[in-house]
Amino acid sequence: MPSEKRLARRAVLDESGLERARAMHPWIFRGNLRQIPQCAQGDLVAFTDMSGVIKGWGLWSDSALSIRVLTYGTKEPDQMGLLRERLTSALNWRKLWCPGEEAFRWVHGEADGLPGIIADLYGDVLSLQVSAAGWYRHIDKVAAVFRKVRKLSAIVLRNETKHLEKEGMPKEVKLLFGEMPKEPIKIKMGSVYELVDIEKGQKTGAYLDVRGVPDMISPLFKGARVLDCFSYQGHFGLHALAAGASEVVAVEQSQQAIDIAQKNLEINGLPRKMKWKCGNAFDIMRKMDSDRERFDLVIMDPPPFSPAKGQVESARRGYKELAVRGFNRIKDGGHMVFLSCSHAFSREMLLSVLNDAARDACVSCRIALEIHQPIDHPALSSVPETDYLKGFVLGVRDQ
Ligand SMILES: C[S@@+](CC[C@H](N)C(=O)[O-])C[C@H]1O[C@@H](n2cnc3c(N)ncnc32)[C@H](O)[C@@H]1O
Repeated sequence: MPSEKRLARRAVLDESGLERARAMHPWIFRGNLRQIPQCAQGDLVAFTDMSGVIKGWGLWSDSALSIRVLTYGTKEPDQMGLLRERLTSALNWRKLWCPGEEAFRWVHGEADGLPGIIADLYGDVLSLQVSAAGWYRHIDKVAAVFRKVRKLSAIVLRNETKHLEKEGMPKEVKLLFGEMPKEPIKIKMGSVYELVDIEKGQKTGAYLDVRGVPDMISPLFKGARVLDCFSYQGHFGLHALAAGASEVVAVEQSQQAIDIAQKNLEINGLPRKMKWKCGNAFDIMRKMDSDRERFDLVIMDPPPFSPAKGQVESARRGYKELAVRGFNRIKDGGHMVFLSCSHAFSREMLLSVLNDAARDACVSCRIALEIHQPIDHPALSSVPETDYLKGFVLGVRDQ
């Protein structure tokens, strides 16, 4: 490439941008650029200090998050070579930590050195989300590299997340390789089987980040009456019934998820002791206040109320309302599992909301367990925003 072109593909960082790069933060924002490169969405660009020394390379985006860093140092990376190397390393991490699991997250974006890629494996079917144009423009090559690293029967692109338009990418679900599974596929998840709809299920098909939680709380299930709020396809309730719960009441607004949950009961040969309340959990919990039903275990696993910093206050209100209503439904001596998957809502914020809610509900809480995202969804120690899933298991007593 002629040298003027090479120079044009350089972004010059200001002092605080350099500071972030030195701290190995993989995002460079527009506000940290002294000079914007002349390049197209998705191009591989170099970033330099103010004297022109190359500090690293990343994928360019015309949005506020301008560069997703791929490598540090002067040498221009071979993008597909780097992808292959990092996919192999990511898979080795899962082989080490999740041996024998049928479904797991193979690639967790920045934490696997592959910002803009999320890849979940369900058996031999890969469900892929690509949120950076720098990967999307080579999507066929990307799919081919995945197949070189592991045998796959299908690769499905599930690009439906927000912000895709900022990257100039369409929202779309499409088959990149193999055959689209005609039916939801049966996957062992923890100690039960679950049907996963790779084409139409939420996220990449299932919420893999909470798949290990039922095991952690299994001593609470035997004989318990369980309220599973935001139940999706019944993951918690299925485990509770399999471990001897007396009844599960599941609250979920998606009828499609409830239909699959019903089939999940059948394929596991579990007793029909799951009752569904389909609708908005806030309305249903308000109604339950007047019914005064009580449970031994209440599980709250809501969607992210605060994906970004601007929504923290409204998230706090939402979490608090759910927590107060949840506490009101727990028998004296029962337990509450409360999860938050909001990137911008810290562990301390969650604990403070739970404390406020406990005070309003006139209960006292002991922390039995703390929940983090699982090992196949690693957080980066240098990037607090990647530590998104937090939760507490609380023992609850009336005051
Ligand atoms: C984080 S997921 C729960 C995952 C689930 N616990 C599991 O183990 O698979 C949140 C779920 O809440 C549902 N949901 C979102 N908003 C809701 C609302 N206002 N009322 C009821 N359900 C809601 C979504 O359809 C989704 O299934």
